[in-house]
Amino acid sequence: MERRSATVDWLIKIRPPATNARADDNQAPAPRLKRLAARTPAAEPQALPRFLMTAADQADPQSSDESAETRSRLSAAYTPSRPVSDWRMFAGRTGVLSTLIRSIEHHRMHAVIFGERGIGKTSLMHVLAHAAREARYLIVYISCGASSNFDDVFRAVVAGVPLLFHRDFGPASAEAERGDTFADLLAPGPVSVHAAGDLLGRISGTRLIVMLDEFDRSESSEFKRNIAELLKNLSDRSVRAQVVIGGVAANLTELIEHIPSIQRNVLALQVPRMTDEEVRSFIGNGEAFSGIRFSEAAVELVVTAAGGMPYLASLLCHHAGLVAIDGGKPAVAAEEVAAAMEVALQELKGRISRRSQLESAILMGRPMRLLVRLSDALGASTSSFTEDDIHAAFPRAQDLMRCRELVEGLAEEGILLTREEDEWGTNYRFVEHSAVAYLRLLYARALALPNRRLAQSKALED
Ligand SMILES: Nc1ncnc2c1ncn2[C@@H]1O[C@H](COP(=O)(O)OP(=O)(O)O)[C@@H](O)[C@H]1O
Ligand SMILES: [Mg+2]
Repeated sequence: MERRSATVDWLIKIRPPATNARADDNQAPAPRLKRLAARTPAAEPQALPRFLMTAADQADPQSSDESAETRSRLSAAYTPSRPVSDWRMFAGRTGVLSTLIRSIEHHRMHAVIFGERGIGKTSLMHVLAHAAREARYLIVYISCGASSNFDDVFRAVVAGVPLLFHRDFGPASAEAERGDTFADLLAPGPVSVHAAGDLLGRISGTRLIVMLDEFDRSESSEFKRNIAELLKNLSDRSVRAQVVIGGVAANLTELIEHIPSIQRNVLALQVPRMTDEEVRSFIGNGEAFSGIRFSEAAVELVVTAAGGMPYLASLLCHHAGLVAIDGGKPAVAAEEVAAAMEVALQELKGRISRRSQLESAILMGRPMRLLVRLSDALGASTSSFTEDDIHAAFPRAQDLMRCRELVEGLAEEGILLTREEDEWGTNYRFVEHSAVAYLRLLYARALALPNRRLAQSKALED
């Protein structure tokens, strides 16, 4: 039988019945467009997908989907594609947050927040900003890009500082009343680090926190060097401005060169994986916010699969919730989480090369278990690790030996890992960082297959 394309099927479906065509034929021939318009009412109206919520976050009154509001609450509760902006949805991290606040408030330090992608750096910065605003700090948040340069970034920073906080102007000055900012005091032409420090030195009556997120994206070493110099300049003169830098990196110096000389003024904070308890509280927050409950088994499956990565936890909860709503289920069960793993895997596939996908798949079994355990132990350091890191990850001699062999073999073949030698020894690195999350989910799915008991997921920790 002849196969028709989907487009042809669709055209046939909307073609008007033959009787209408005959009625038309009895009339005087109409222009083609007119004829089409006249036939439209007889055609099956095509149900185009609609937005379920209005832009004001109300359920669309024309929509017949009663679950629209639940979906919308679910999407606000679990936001895998964006950082937490509502502090009420921020789970755990109290230790990390209080260390940050203490360093900023008591020690007037700058901070560099680093760690793997999706670990929660931006979310942490947002919540820190919220806490600081409550204490009447001024916050300027900037997301850096590949082409960020010092001049543009600094101008954007001081455009966020009203002139009423300038010690030479004050709130009653005409300029302040006009709404001028510190940026209006800058002369045209590139701003030097020295001039930038001087200008920030004029802040009075408040404190400024400059947040430079996604710092690793900047490709300009000049920009990074200038920021490092600015930090030093500000610390030397106890200016009322502090800088918080965020970015993907395994350590401080990978993120910002030239920083060792000013290290004592800088808090280097590696965001760790979440504890299982923190992931549970993350799910709990979402349950309370969305009204969608997760069964105990569902919670445990998310905890196991996420391995402390909030991005994965968020992705799984979001999709599992949607699957439950679609199925008209009152709560999310392990079954929905398993279905969410499939969706999440598809989504992650879009972010890694076909090569990494295939290489991950062939590692199924013990090699994958070892690699997942290794990457869990490495956390932020997956971008680069050494023999010593492997040692630390595997206290049991037998596992250590197997893992070393595996890493060596994979790096030799260039499968998922690469190897570089420098004067200090051998460094390994995952070719694609996103492959780590993919690998983790692939392994968690294998453990959660229906013919296995959920308890087997404990094997990840063994
Ligand atoms: N403490 C947290 N509580 C709740 N969700 C979090 C938390 N940290 C991160 N997330 C979620 O994890 C995902 C990644 O977080 P993000 O802050 O963007 O990470 P990063 O900046 O390190 O890449 C986001 O979906 C965010 O909503
Ligand atoms: Mg981020």
